[in-house]
Amino acid sequence: MMPVTATLAPPSPLADRLLRMTEPATIAMAKKARELAAQGVDVINLSFGEPDFQTPQYIKDAAKKALDDGFTFYTPVAGIVELRQAICDKFRRENQLDFQPNQIVVSTGAKQALANAVLSLVNPGDEVIVFSPYWVSYSEMVKLAGGTTVELLGTLENDYKVTAAQLEAAITERTKLIMYSSPCNPTGAVLAAKS
Ligand SMILES: Cc1ncc(COP(=O)(O)O)c(C=O)c1O
Repeated sequence: MMPVTATLAPPSPLADRLLRMTEPATIAMAKKARELAAQGVDVINLSFGEPDFQTPQYIKDAAKKALDDGFTFYTPVAGIVELRQAICDKFRRENQLDFQPNQIVVSTGAKQALANAVLSLVNPGDEVIVFSPYWVSYSEMVKLAGGTTVELLGTLENDYKVTAAQLEAAITERTKLIMYSSPCNPTGAVLAAKS
């Protein structure tokens, strides 16, 4: 009798979690806009929320000076303390919000900070409530973490805002996180304590 040998499929070069992801709509739109522009089409690109002005000169100058001054080494992981203090000062001065530097983490953009938070909090099978319409990356981050997105749709009648009653009805014992932005991208709706 021939010996039976199990044949295992070779491992996929990419992790399975990557295969769950789809290309974000904003990236696909930006690519399309670039392609059309390259063909000479007059495109108004509404994909990324990128400013249509240059970085102010004083910021460019400060970045150049920092390089010339040798400010090119690792910083503390949460950000340099002077910057975290300046962020607290800005929050107090302009937003009436009271934070201490040890409550601030500087990241390379909101996307990274949100992805870190979602990956730190969400286990496979956890539910994440997302107010819809929403910035496209929210559900991709939840997918990456193995969670399930529970979309709550804000209605036109309520200025695209999700109501407290909708939220209350959606919360289960598996709810781990609620994600929304205010002002909302894309609707611009601003939530108040009683929305
Ligand atoms: C609601 C929302 N959160 C996060 C981001 C990502 O921000 P960043 O470009 O700082 O990573 C965007 C970008 O459009 C956004 O609209």
